[in-house]
Formats: sequence, structure tokens, C-alpha cells
Amino acid sequence: MRKHPERYVATILPETPFEYEQFNMVLSAHFLFMYSDRLDYDFHKKTIQELLRVASEEVRIFPLTDLTGTRYDLLDRLILELEAEGLRVTEVKVPHEFMRNGNSLLGIRKI
Ligand SMILES: C[S@@+](CC[C@H](N)C(=O)[O-])C[C@H]1O[C@@H](n2cnc3c(N)ncnc32)[C@H](O)[C@@H]1O
Repeated sequence: MRKHPERYVATILPETPFEYEQFNMVLSAHFLFMYSDRLDYDFHKKTIQELLRVASEEVRIFPLTDLTGTRYDLLDRLILELEAEGLRVTEVKVPHEFMRNGNSLLGIRKI
């Protein structure tokens, strides 16, 4: 960040300053769901809607657990709601486990 500050844009979610579908793919790593003890479902939903707005193809979220390694308890509800909006949602196991049980990724595809 110190070397290339021009590559970073600071923002406070659930808002971003980016254009509609400015990126092909957006990755949220080690933030959403991990802090579900202090960020509520409404925050998660609004943030994901914003990430979907700025992505033309896909949003990926990793990991799907909270800080104790427990799967986000409202994940099934979230997946059902996103699917009802016409999005293609997949929960994928990945080979790296940075935190206990933190080896799943949520792919949310617009196309
Ligand atoms: C565990 S860090 C992960 C950061 C980054 N994804 C990474 O892999 O290095 C979580 C970050 O989220 C930031 N954060 C907390 N609330 C936020 C919000 N509403 N909008 C944007 N960032 C936030 C915190 O300041 C912290 O730097």
C-alpha cells in the first residue's frame, strides 16, 4: 500500500465509489461473515448487493465462517434469497484453509 497507494481505494461498506459493472469479478476476503457477531444480516445483504452492482459477472466471498470457525448461521437464508433474485450461487470447497473450517467460498454469478 505504501509502495503503490494509487492501486487502493478506501471506502466504507456497504457503499463503494465504483461504476456499475466496472469489474468482471469482485472478491471479498476475510471480512463478510467473519464478523457476523458485530455486522448483521442487513449489512451483509446490502454489501453483497453493492458488490453485485459493480461486478459484471461474479462476486466471490471467502471464507464462510465466523471467527470461531462456525459456518455463517444465516448462509442458507442468504443463498435462497439470492437465488430467488435470479443469481446462480455455489458453495465451493477450496484447497487452502487459512482459518479452522475456513475452506469454502461462495460464488454468486450474474450470468
Ligand atoms: C480481516 S481484515 C481483511 C482485509 C482484507 N480483505 C485482506 O485480506 O487483507 C478486515 C478489514 O475490514 C475493515 N472494515 C471493517 N468495517 C468495514 C466497512 N464497513 N467497510 C470497509 N472495510 C471495513 C477493517 O478495518 C479491516 O481492515
